[in-house]
Amino acid sequence: MSEITQDYIVDFLSTIQPSSNSFITALEKEAHRKEIPIISFEVKALLEVLLSLHKPTKILEIGTAIGYSSILMSQYLPQDGKIITIDRYPYMIQQAKENIFKARLDSKITLLEGDAEEILPTLEPYFDMIFLDAAKGQYHAFLPYCLRLLRPGGLLIADNVLHKGMIAKSRYNIPRRQRTIHKRLRSFLWDIHHHPILQTSVLPIGDGVALCYKKTEEETKNEKL
Ligand SMILES: C[S@@+](CC[C@H](N)C(=O)[O-])C[C@H]1O[C@@H](n2cnc3c(N)ncnc32)[C@H](O)[C@@H]1O
Repeated sequence: MSEITQDYIVDFLSTIQPSSNSFITALEKEAHRKEIPIISFEVKALLEVLLSLHKPTKILEIGTAIGYSSILMSQYLPQDGKIITIDRYPYMIQQAKENIFKARLDSKITLLEGDAEEILPTLEPYFDMIFLDAAKGQYHAFLPYCLRLLRPGGLLIADNVLHKGMIAKSRYNIPRRQRTIHKRLRSFLWDIHHHPILQTSVLPIGDGVALCYKKTEEETKNEKL
C-alpha cells in the first residue's frame, strides 16, 4: 500500500507490470514473504529505465538486503560491468551471499560487509551510478562520500526520501521518536536540491525517489539563464 500516491493508481499500475525473469520473481516473493524491505515495483521499473538510458559500468549500492536490487541491476550491466554493494546486517549479508551465488553473479557483484559510514571513505572513485537505499537518517552523512565517488555525468538515486509522506509535514506533527530522521532527511533533501554540482528531481513513487545528476565541470560553469 502506498502512503504517497493514491492506492487505486498504484494498484492499477501493479496489474500492468510485465513479469520479470523467474529468479528475480522468486526473490521478490521471498522478500515479501519474509517482510524484507526491497524496492517497490514502481522503483524497480524506474531503475530499469534509468539503467537502460544511463548504461553504467560501475555501480555502487548502499543497502543490499537480500541482494534483490543488486541482482536486478546486474542484468543491465555490460560484460565487464561491476557492482559493489554494502550491508551491515549479518542476516541480510548471509542471504545476499547465497542469492548472489545461486544467480552465478559472484564475479559481477561484490558484497562489502560493514557500516557504510566506515566503508565509503575507503572506496576509490569513480562510479557511474550510486543507488542509496539504506538507513534514511544517514543519507545526509553519506552525501559527501557519494559526491566524491560519483563520476561527473553520473547518477545518484536515493530511495525512500519522502518517508511515507511524513517529510512534507511540520516537525510538530511528527512523533518525537521520528523527529531526528525527519530533520536529517529534510537536510539531505535541501542539500541535493541546492548543491551547485547536482541537478535533482524527486519523484513521489514508492516511498519517494530522488534522482540526482552530477554535472560535469563544463556544465557547472555554464550557468543557465
Ligand atoms: C531497504 S533495505 C535495501 C533493499 C535493497 N536495496 C533491495 O531493494 O533489494 C536497506 C538495507 O540497508 C542496510 N543498511 C542500513 N543502513 C546501513 C549502513 N549504515 N551501512 C550498511 N548497511 C546499511 C540494512 O541492513 C538493510 O539490509
